[in-house]
Amino acid sequence: RNRQHQLEMQQLIETFPLFSEVDENSQEELLLLFRPKSASPGERVVRIGDRGDGMYFISAGAVEVQLESDPVRLDAGAFFGEMALLSGGRRTADVIAVDFCQFLVLERRDFHVFMSRHPALRMAVSNMARERAEMNVAR
Ligand code: CMP
Repeated sequence: RNRQHQLEMQQLIETFPLFSEVDENSQEELLLLFRPKSASPGERVVRIGDRGDGMYFISAGAVEVQLESDPVRLDAGAFFGEMALLSGGRRTADVIAVDFCQFLVLERRDFHVFMSRHPALRMAVSNMARERAEMNVAR
C-alpha cells in the first residue's frame, strides 16, 4: 500500500469516529464501496417521503436536517440517511446543504450487506437512529 493511500485511510478514520468500530480490512472495503457526491449551498440532498437510496457521510461542509421545530445542523464527520435504510421506510426529513459539501455515500444494497457482516457497526448506527427518532418525538 502506498503512502497516499495510507494517508487517505488515516484521514477517513480521523474524520469519522464510527469507523473505529470496524477492523482495517473492513475500512479498506468501505473505502471501495463509497460513492463520492457533492452538493452546493441550498441544495436538497435528501427529500422527506422518498425511499432511502443510501447513507451519507459528510467529509466536508455542513447540512441542516429540517425538523418541525429548529433544524439540526450536521458537520463533517457526521452521517445521515441511515433511518430510512434501517426501517425500510421513507425519509423522515428533508436534508439541505448549507455549504459546499462532499459526501461519501454508501448505497442501499452495500449498506445492508456491509452492516450484516459488521454487527458492532450496525449497532452503533442503530443506536444513533433511535436517539434521533426519540429526539424528534420529544420536540
Ligand atoms: P432518513 O430518515 O433516512 O433521512 C433524513 C435523515 O435526517 C434521517 O435519516 C437522519 O439521518 C436525519 N435526522 C432525522 N432526525 C434527526 C435528528 N433529530 N438529528 C439529526 N439528524 C436527524
